[in-house]
Amino acid sequence: MTGTRMPETAGGVATDSGERGAGAAAAADAAQLHDTQLAFDSVAADYDGPRGNNELIQRMRHTLREVVCRELPPGSRLLDLGCGTGIDALGFAQLGYPVVATDWSPGMVARTEARIAGASLPVPVAVRQLGIHQLAALDGSFDGIYSNFGPMNCVPDLAATADECARLLAPGGVLVFSVMGRICPWELGYYALRGRFGRAAVRAARGATPVGMNRHTIWTRYYLPREFHRHFAARFELAGYRALSLFMPPPYLVDFYRRHPQLCDRLGRLDDYLGEWPLLRDMGDHFLMVMRRR
Ligand SMILES: C[S@@+](CC[C@H](N)C(=O)[O-])C[C@H]1O[C@@H](n2cnc3c(N)ncnc32)[C@H](O)[C@@H]1O
Repeated sequence: MTGTRMPETAGGVATDSGERGAGAAAAADAAQLHDTQLAFDSVAADYDGPRGNNELIQRMRHTLREVVCRELPPGSRLLDLGCGTGIDALGFAQLGYPVVATDWSPGMVARTEARIAGASLPVPVAVRQLGIHQLAALDGSFDGIYSNFGPMNCVPDLAATADECARLLAPGGVLVFSVMGRICPWELGYYALRGRFGRAAVRAARGATPVGMNRHTIWTRYYLPREFHRHFAARFELAGYRALSLFMPPPYLVDFYRRHPQLCDRLGRLDDYLGEWPLLRDMGDHFLMVMRRR
């Protein structure tokens, strides 16, 4: 997915919930969430390898961590949405941030629990199997909520998520989300050059689009930064956003990175220097957005 969410079967079949009755739309959302859960369960065991934690992903991870640490001092209470195997939750806890780590996939949650159980940490980490679409079931107060590497792309109702995030955040709290964007020049070029035009255009789909992973389906919604923020705008002001992996290839092209390390290091520096520039920040494999509670 995200990053390594490399579509094997990019159908581009967008669903439009506006055209269906509310009941049918809810049933479709539930079925898609179930597909997505099965997909991530199926890769949880080896997710810490090239699929979920290769060099290019680690680079994006580093940027999110820097931004969270810049926004919030150690000791701030963090909520991780879509924690995967808990790499970030562990990292923040080691830096002194107490974390509640949540994920929709029981397989991922088990991996996070095992990671945390094996660590000696200065602050507590709680782990819960909970979808982002189920945040109404969560209590607590947090200084920051982060979501790394695309879980927000799997959520059917972002406006409801915004309401729940506002409820859970203390005044002045921040959201830091890394989200798959619509315009990824590397992806467009890579697939167009191979004549795979349908695959190249997958991010243009409106609504949920099926993306294959490990013979399962992740129902993915792609966003421009402004499309994404629109869902949060009533409750959160936009503090800023930047491109991730714009000049650098997307994580599923890690073989290119390994074959051309010096070139890619230069491309990475371009990401660092130019990723916040107007227009450029609207592109890239992901964008990193910071929002502040109104
Ligand atoms: C690409 S992984 C990223 C995991 C982790 N944040 C990381 O950086 O490694 C996406 C994660 O989002 C989770 N996810 C997908 N849909 C979700 C949902 N509706 N609610 C919560 N988590 C979800 C998946 O189970 C998976 O662990």
